[in-house]
This record gives sequence, structure tokens and C-alpha cells, in this order.
Amino acid sequence: MVQIRKAVEKDLPRLVEIFRVSRQQLLPFLPILYTREQDFAHLKDLMGRGEVYAGVLAEKLVGFLVRIDHWVAHLYVHPDMIAQGVGQALLDHAKTKSSKLELWCFEENQRARAFYEAQGFKLVRTTEGDNEEGLPDRLYRWVRD
Ligand SMILES: CC(C)(COP(=O)(O)OP(=O)(O)OC[C@H]1O[C@@H](n2cnc3c(N)ncnc32)[C@H](O)[C@@H]1OP(=O)(O)O)[C@@H](O)C(=O)NCCC(=O)NCCS
Repeated sequence: MVQIRKAVEKDLPRLVEIFRVSRQQLLPFLPILYTREQDFAHLKDLMGRGEVYAGVLAEKLVGFLVRIDHWVAHLYVHPDMIAQGVGQALLDHAKTKSSKLELWCFEENQRARAFYEAQGFKLVRTTEGDNEEGLPDRLYRWVRD
């Protein structure tokens, strides 16, 4: 049973670990642009600007979602813990906080695309690489009925 709680500053090292290992293993097409220290600073900054929810399974923090207003800035689950309902539980929680959610997803990220589409997100538009990585991506939107 996945539990959701607000992430706090002392969770940051674990959030950075999940962020980096999830990108390396599940999004291997992404260039590594930042160091661990830079990722730490980035997530700390986001924690100050929005809300970060932690997904906890068997008392271990295994995934997180960053929400800034109606934007899902990040959603990552540890690769060893995917397909166990953690991503969905985090997204369901974010859906209770906003009547609309939007997010960017890389074209190549088939797993996440299928996941978001199964969670009711609709494609709004695509870009040919209008992001730091220079890779094609897609804007998705969910609106509460
Ligand atoms: C995408 C991600 C967040 C999904 O989280 P998850 O915990 O693995 O997903 P869940 O187990 O909660 O999936 C819930 C439901 O979504 C759907 N779903 C999930 N993955 C799917 C897939 N690859 N294809 C189709 N449907 C999928 C299913 O309906 C699933 O329900 P089921 O378990 O009954 O089949 C996770 O795989 C991840 O962290 N990936 C790497 C990072 C990433 O890509 N983040 C998104 C950046 S935009």
C-alpha cells in the first residue's frame, strides 16, 4: 500500500538519488547535464517554490512528484519500484490539489507516455526539442471532469 506525504528538506538526498538513478536507468537517451550537487540545488529550489510529495512503500521513500501550481515539474519512481502503483498514487494525490495538471514528457519516453495516457492526460502539443536537452517532447494536460 503506497503512502503519500509531503517531502521535507531532509528527504533531499534520497530524492536526488531517485532522480538520478531513474533517469540513468529508465531514460538512458537523456544526456547527463548536471552534477549530483546541481540536482540537489535544483530540487531544493523547487521545494521552496512548490510542493513535493513523497511516495512511501514499506516505510521507504521510493518516488516523488513536484507540483508547482498546475504544473507537474517532476515525477520519478525508483527503477526497482516501478509498476507497483507509486506513480499513480502520487499523481492521484496531485489531482486532489489542482483541477488541472500539465506536464512535459519526452517523445522517446514511451513508458511515461503510456502511463500518463492511462491516467487521463491528453496530448496538447509537441515540440521538436524546445528544452534544455534539445529532444522532441510533448505537452500533456489533465482536467478534472
Ligand atoms: C512513469 C512512472 C512515473 C510511472 O510510475 P509507476 O509507479 O511505474 O506506475 P504505476 O505502477 O503507478 O502505474 C499505474 C497504472 O498506470 C498504467 N501504466 C503504467 N505504466 C504503463 C505502461 N508502461 N504502459 C501502459 N500503462 C501503464 C497502468 O494502468 C498502471 O496500472 P496497472 O499497474 O494496474 O497496470 C515511472 O515508470 C517512472 O518513474 N519512470 C521514469 C521517470 C519518468 O519517466 N518520469 C516521467 C517524466 S515526464
